[in-house]
Amino acid sequence: MMSTNALVSILPASVFDLSSLRKLEKLCFPVDAWPLLDMIGALTFPNIVRYKAVTIQGEMVGFIAGEIKLGREMGWIATVCVHPDFRRNGIARALMLKAEHEMGQPRVRLTVRESNEGAIRMYEESGYVRVDRWRAYYNGGEDGVVMEKVLNL
Ligand SMILES: CC(C)(COP(=O)(O)OP(=O)(O)OC[C@H]1O[C@@H](n2cnc3c(N)ncnc32)[C@H](O)[C@@H]1OP(=O)(O)O)[C@@H](O)C(=O)NCCC(=O)NCCS
Repeated sequence: MMSTNALVSILPASVFDLSSLRKLEKLCFPVDAWPLLDMIGALTFPNIVRYKAVTIQGEMVGFIAGEIKLGREMGWIATVCVHPDFRRNGIARALMLKAEHEMGQPRVRLTVRESNEGAIRMYEESGYVRVDRWRAYYNGGEDGVVMEKVLNL
């Protein structure tokens, strides 16, 4: 396995990444792909941190967006995805660490489909634990698992 640092750079994302993000999201989320407006929001709203993983050739192969819930002292991972050809190289974990750090909140939460064992494993490896379950949260009626990480700031 190559180290993440050798494989990709983690860089701030912006609205100029919209078309790359649309392609990546389609590959990563055949069922739950974001509406275009949500993607534009993730790339532009002021209370959101967003980072991309970029190869040396300039291809965007990973993305994360984290929302700072002002007044609740909480960060919320809105999406994280890695191109299928680049998985299991620690890219998601590196994106998580970057977003957690930049949000600067003492707690970070997220939801994930309960059947998404790979993502749940990655979150557990990143220090998240299950704290709640939202009934029929996803399209098709699947439950959402709510996970949380407490950071030592
Ligand atoms: C989930 C996802 C972001 C993981 O990205 P990734 O870059 O492959 O994850 P990492 O390489 O950082 O994984 C870190 C650790 O998490 C665990 N992990 C990650 N993916 C896993 C999988 N599919 N099965 C089991 N464990 C997994 C492993 O312990 C891994 O360490 P290892 O490779 O040394 O064993 C990626 O599979 C993806 O984009 N999936 C589709 C979109 C998605 O489901 N996003 C989350 C929705 S809430």
